[in-house]
Amino acid sequence: MYKAPRGTIDILPAEQKYYRYIEEKAADICRLYSYERIDTPVFEDSGLFVRTIGSGTDIVEKEMYTFEDRGGQSMTLRPEGTAPICRAYLEHGMHNLPQPVRLYYLASIFRYERPQKGRYRQHQQFGVEAIGDGDAALDAEVIEMAWRFFKSLGLRKFVIHLNSIGCRDCRPAYLEKLRDYYSEHVDKLCPDCKSRMKRNTLRLLDCKQPSCLELSQSAPQGERCLCPECKQHFTNVARYLRLMKVPFQKDHRLVRGLDYYTRTVFEVQPKVEWGAQSALGGGGRYDGLIEELGGKPTPAIGFAVGVDRIVMSLKEQRIRLSESPLRGLFVAYAGDEAKAAAVRFAAELRRNGLLVYSSFGRGSLKSQLRQANTLGVEYTFIFGEDEIANSTVTYRDMETGEQWQVALEEVFELLAEG
Ligand code: HAM
Repeated sequence: MYKAPRGTIDILPAEQKYYRYIEEKAADICRLYSYERIDTPVFEDSGLFVRTIGSGTDIVEKEMYTFEDRGGQSMTLRPEGTAPICRAYLEHGMHNLPQPVRLYYLASIFRYERPQKGRYRQHQQFGVEAIGDGDAALDAEVIEMAWRFFKSLGLRKFVIHLNSIGCRDCRPAYLEKLRDYYSEHVDKLCPDCKSRMKRNTLRLLDCKQPSCLELSQSAPQGERCLCPECKQHFTNVARYLRLMKVPFQKDHRLVRGLDYYTRTVFEVQPKVEWGAQSALGGGGRYDGLIEELGGKPTPAIGFAVGVDRIVMSLKEQRIRLSESPLRGLFVAYAGDEAKAAAVRFAAELRRNGLLVYSSFGRGSLKSQLRQANTLGVEYTFIFGEDEIANSTVTYRDMETGEQWQVALEEVFELLAEG
């Protein structure tokens, strides 16, 4: 018997409602902040990822699904969404549009990781990228957007961690300090961190092994090593966030697993951790990435969230998925003559853009109403002999059971009033 590949999941019909719910909330928040959807290919030239994510990172070193296509080209299944968006920004001349260009995506992401709860080899991300503006107010707006998105899902118990990792001018001095610090404690480092020390020093701060965790608590703090410009930028981000009343925690150990970040980095963490890889979302500024891909220097910032991890949180916190404002209507009937009127009426409602349920194959009105209840509709329209005789329809409030007759020509007015 074949099984789904290790580290992948089937999203069965019963789970679909969580995914649709998150996608709807994502589209809503993007409309609110004027982000437009973009879709890029599932695979790209491998070089795109090696160059931007960084050759010393775990993703590039051991997690990419890379293959040679039949033409001999090295291709990689997308291990993250930011680099492809920047590639598309350049390829389609989006620097000619008003800046920043705000884009969002919902995409499958592939990483050959060690599977565990909430960590898969194929997962879904919702991500946004705002390209072409370096102002700290944009950082704050993007972080606020992430915060609002999580609020809109009904999730509680999450915290925003914030840090600045400086720019290419001030970071080398900080890395030097970190290396000095860690070289005094090499014996306490886990084997991974020992080998990371030269290649990817920042990541030492983020290791979850107990002895490394302890060391990182007293490691030199990046904020103290920022150049005056980065310091000012970080101060402004924090100031704007306070103005917007977005709660956050500064976290000097927050670094990210991709090399392209500059200045602001942030993560959305659940308050109760379920394992080492618990972030619900993360992002930051990447002011050098577009230039790295051959464009003009172009500041940018974005974030992505793990849709599958959010589904887990929604279930754990027993969040009731709030219905979309359009709950739908049910059209029922009693008797053959009424059935024809109900069919015509349902079609007219749908022509007017309404979500309409019906169950024309069920004989009894009682069983139709039972189905309307199961579907959770707010109102049911009922046609019977009386209604046909005097050109009306019965309008039943499914919650209270109250019902009253309305003239057919008044139905749309009634619906418009809500
Ligand atoms: P990332 O932190 O690598 O960032 O991934 C974003 C989110 O995807 C994580 O916070 C997590 O919720 C989810 N995630 C990551 N790996 C897995 C996995 N193996 N299984 C389940 N969920 C996972 C990025 O990918 C950046 N491109 C984000 C970004 C956008 N930065 C700027 N713009």
